[in-house]
Amino acid sequence: MCGIVAAVAQRDVAPLLIAGLKALEYRGYDSSGVAVLDGGEIQRVRAKGKVREMEALYLADPLPGGTGIAHTRWATHGVPNEANAHPHIAGRVSIVHNGIIENHARLRAELEAAGHVFTSDTDTEVMAALIDRHLDQGLNLREAVLATVRELEGAYAIAVLSRDEPGRVVGARRGAPLLVGVGIGENFLGSDAQALVQVTHRMLYLDEGDVVEITRDSVQVYGLDGTPVERAVHESELSSDAVERGEYRHYMQKEIFEQPQAVANTLEARLGPHGVLPNIFGIDSDALLQATRGLHIVACGTSYHAGLVAKYWIEEYARLPVSVEVASEYRYRETVVPEGTLFVAISQSGETADTLAAMRESRRRGYLGTLAICNVPESSAVREADLKLMTRAGPEIGVASTKAFTTQLAALALLTLELARRHGLDEARYAALCAELQRLPRAIEETLQMEPAIIALAGEFIHRQHALFLGRGVQYPVALEGALKLKEISYIHAEAYAAGELKHGPLALVDEHMPVIAVAPNGPLLDKLKSNLQEVRARGGRLIVFADGAAGMDDMAGTGRMLRVASGGNFIAPAVFTVPLQLLAYHVAVLRGTDVDQPRNLAKSVTVE
Ligand code: G6P
Repeated sequence: MCGIVAAVAQRDVAPLLIAGLKALEYRGYDSSGVAVLDGGEIQRVRAKGKVREMEALYLADPLPGGTGIAHTRWATHGVPNEANAHPHIAGRVSIVHNGIIENHARLRAELEAAGHVFTSDTDTEVMAALIDRHLDQGLNLREAVLATVRELEGAYAIAVLSRDEPGRVVGARRGAPLLVGVGIGENFLGSDAQALVQVTHRMLYLDEGDVVEITRDSVQVYGLDGTPVERAVHESELSSDAVERGEYRHYMQKEIFEQPQAVANTLEARLGPHGVLPNIFGIDSDALLQATRGLHIVACGTSYHAGLVAKYWIEEYARLPVSVEVASEYRYRETVVPEGTLFVAISQSGETADTLAAMRESRRRGYLGTLAICNVPESSAVREADLKLMTRAGPEIGVASTKAFTTQLAALALLTLELARRHGLDEARYAALCAELQRLPRAIEETLQMEPAIIALAGEFIHRQHALFLGRGVQYPVALEGALKLKEISYIHAEAYAAGELKHGPLALVDEHMPVIAVAPNGPLLDKLKSNLQEVRARGGRLIVFADGAAGMDDMAGTGRMLRVASGGNFIAPAVFTVPLQLLAYHVAVLRGTDVDQPRNLAKSVTVE
């Protein structure tokens, strides 16, 4: 995953590069580094840990110079230490890289046989050595990069500079994101627009296989065959404020509290007083949605949980069969694709390697078409899909996904309604569901008022090692998402079960030390869930029940705790009941003193397989 920033300017670029890295730290944060070209020499600073550790070294010994590359790392090859941190140097070349080079072992062996001595365990250093070897053969930097990327198997986004070509950075991308920030008398490369909005809003998005050469006053893109190609410049709407933390203690807390507005933005101009507005999935969507006979939803992590909720919704209201699968499984499996099946990819970033690979694989498998539900308008997923629906959550910085999830649910609720209307749901029910969805931002707003009660509850978890989450029906994926949030940021081992499965194994874990968190809104399965909760109580388990005041629930938690959620209706309940679980995970993590926004070993955008 790793983040890349590069710049060519008249002014010293290191401060700009470090500011860019801080905006990219969500992509990885186990080590970082900057290399700057000054007077024909490459100066470099690298450090293990967060960008601020490297910045401290930089501030003690600044690097002047107007040509530079920088990197924040999420380790794939080689442990996180200074030697493996980027930028890497070989001869006159320095490089930063995001991705994985699959044939690096063979290339490394060849280079070693020819006498090259490596100083790191990374696949990236192999690329630096290859580029330097091509420079030895008389190629210029751009030609050497082109020649090198043709030898590579795997995924890469890179930025490269050469001691012999001051004022120039060459970038390339395949399977990992890279874009150009076009300034006035200065130009930049970055993994995403967030890294560059502090210096420019004019962005040029590279296509797969592109190689780009930037100088202070030129940007030239080349295809993999080396011929110049044109790529359009877009004005980014991202504001630098959107990536500020403001009054909140963590980005995650800010993003939890942004959910009413984010969900309102997702629904705006899409859900009218009489239902879903026309063509919200794109102007060609009509025929495709009409012809849809089933859906295959593919995603990773939290986005996968959103897909699971959609399965319950679409099968219930549109009566179309839905299968949901994690992308890393889907892409390597021989799936059966019945005629008329729509492929749906859900991804906050639109750059998750497994999800993109699954999307590309789906092209071969005979789907009706592809729909991307995504938060980043210029992402690969959006550019490659036939139909799209943007979630409009705004930048999500906290590694643990929150507003991305609830806005995905809002988008999937729109998809459900659109399919249901076309495939036989009666008008009165359709109207009632639309009205309920309109209330979702308000319902989330009310649920956020639970924060003080959740803070009080969080204290119970400080010394816990395990937790069990239970839900039934459409609340089962909500339980999965609650458990994922808790384990990601508090490092408490948490598992979720469909409550009916409890007796088939996990009940053996239940005793007075096991908190059991139940998501229990009113609905057709509530009585069944009550029986499952009785099973927990009978074994002395400590119950924490989130319920919406349905009859007979008041004493359900026994000696445990009952928390009242104002759900606003059955259809939107999954989104509403997610909110207290996010708050619980957040406050438990704060109390345990973990790094909430950047939990250990994880990264937000997983652009490697
Ligand atoms: C990472 C993130 C998760 C996210 C998942 C899928 O694991 O830490 O929060 O849910 O990737 O990301 P996507 O951008 O495809 O939704």
